[in-house]
Amino acid sequence: MTRILKCLVLIASIVFLGLPSTPGFAQSVPELLTPKTPLTPQINGPKVYGVRPGHPFLYRIPCTGTRPMHFSVKNLPASLKVDELSGIISGNAPAEKGEFVVTIEAANSMGKTARTFKIVVGDKLGLTPQMGWNGWYTLYDHPTDSDIRKAADAMIASGMADYGYQFVDIDDAWARKPGSTDAELGGQVRDEAGNILPNVRFPSMPSLTQYIHSLGLKAGIYSGPGPLTCAKFEASYRHEDADAHQFNKWGFDLLKYDMCSYRNLVKEGNLDDLQKPYKLMGSLLKELDRDIVLNMCQYGEGDVWKWGRQVGGTSWRTTGDLGLAVGDSLPGFYSVGLANAALDAYAGPGGWNDPDYILIGTVGDANNRTAPPKATSLTPEEQYSYMSMWSLMASPLLFSGDMAKLDDFTLNILCNSEVIDIDQDLLGKQGKILRKTSLELILAKPLEDGSIAVGLFNLGKAPRTISVDWKEIEKRGRMQVRDVWRQKDLGKFDDTFGTAVPAHGVVLVKVEPARRKL
Ligand code: GLA
Repeated sequence: MTRILKCLVLIASIVFLGLPSTPGFAQSVPELLTPKTPLTPQINGPKVYGVRPGHPFLYRIPCTGTRPMHFSVKNLPASLKVDELSGIISGNAPAEKGEFVVTIEAANSMGKTARTFKIVVGDKLGLTPQMGWNGWYTLYDHPTDSDIRKAADAMIASGMADYGYQFVDIDDAWARKPGSTDAELGGQVRDEAGNILPNVRFPSMPSLTQYIHSLGLKAGIYSGPGPLTCAKFEASYRHEDADAHQFNKWGFDLLKYDMCSYRNLVKEGNLDDLQKPYKLMGSLLKELDRDIVLNMCQYGEGDVWKWGRQVGGTSWRTTGDLGLAVGDSLPGFYSVGLANAALDAYAGPGGWNDPDYILIGTVGDANNRTAPPKATSLTPEEQYSYMSMWSLMASPLLFSGDMAKLDDFTLNILCNSEVIDIDQDLLGKQGKILRKTSLELILAKPLEDGSIAVGLFNLGKAPRTISVDWKEIEKRGRMQVRDVWRQKDLGKFDDTFGTAVPAHGVVLVKVEPARRKL
């Protein structure tokens, strides 16, 4: 080939195939497995929603497709209304307990769709795991009102909210810091009546939550049962009642309650001591006139998964901080995920094991909190594994990377509607470990439609073929297999399914009995 011809072939291959991974070239663009979002309407996210009788109700219908979209809801209880253009359902839940099966309809210039949605008025909140964003791993000790508003805006603008992401959660460092000489953080930590005060970076909590609610999203706040939070800001010890009421008055919908300095107040390993502050906060939140879900953050102490639900937790962290987890041959999220995976028996509607946030995209370094956030060091394959594992485990899906720097690859990981469907499935079962060796992990999650989601994880450094036998998932005969990330049917398989899985990667499939041809 002449030099000119070689050059033309190279340019053409770059245009059509992406950059080659030859030394001297930038790394090839990671493969986006999630198909492009259809322009036709598609309703995503949970199919069920729990609310207490008579309490304020807010739900932005997660729906992808070209805007403008026109929404309507059939059989909506009279105390609720839907905004036709935004798809935000608001009002007060019916005063009596009961189940309300409604049909959400969405139409745009390209077509229309409908989906059944169940509103369950009762005691249980969090009938599916929470989805949203938490500021800790990008903002650390310096969140501001404006950062949180921008994150909420980005949740809408990026399309994440159209897939079901809903919570916008402030983490530590919004309160005042006892003894701090920093003009922005110091000063009196509570007013004369004992009400907790935000620092000057949060001029008005009610206005912040109102803003978040105006977008149809929910707002989360953070405190702890000790005198101080982990970052040494004011927390709720001996002010639990005042704080629960203040968070409610401010309009928050979620409280992350972080044990931290409470540890210094109690004897190691005493279960009563561990349960007491969560019982207290859990019962205070239950008495409020608005729903606030309780995310217990005490790193799995005293086997919290066994009692978290009883003390009023909607989710409970099962391990230490994922951002600090170090792996040996595998990145830290695998060890956190594996520890959490063993706890499948304890998760279900209203109470979820929480293995911590999804740290991908542009994210800060927990060991060097003042350093600017940077691109994750996880490979694309590891990121597919991370999101697959979390979804198979029915974990809360809380992204904690930088919302201002969401790139196509990160959104392809976070926003695959079929992967999210596995996480949000109505049955609310956490996937079980079917196989765990040094090289392979298989997790299987039964779904409401009778199918089973199976994740074939390669824990090794080289690609390998991984197979699952139908016996292992308690099925027989001919089964239909769908590749969930690619949203593509792979065909019908007898007795077993095997596939090549990339190093540290996953193949996530949905397996269901093959339908007979009519
Ligand atoms: C603990 C929690 C983190 C975060 C920080 C805030 O480490 O586990 O998720 O909330 O505190 O200080």
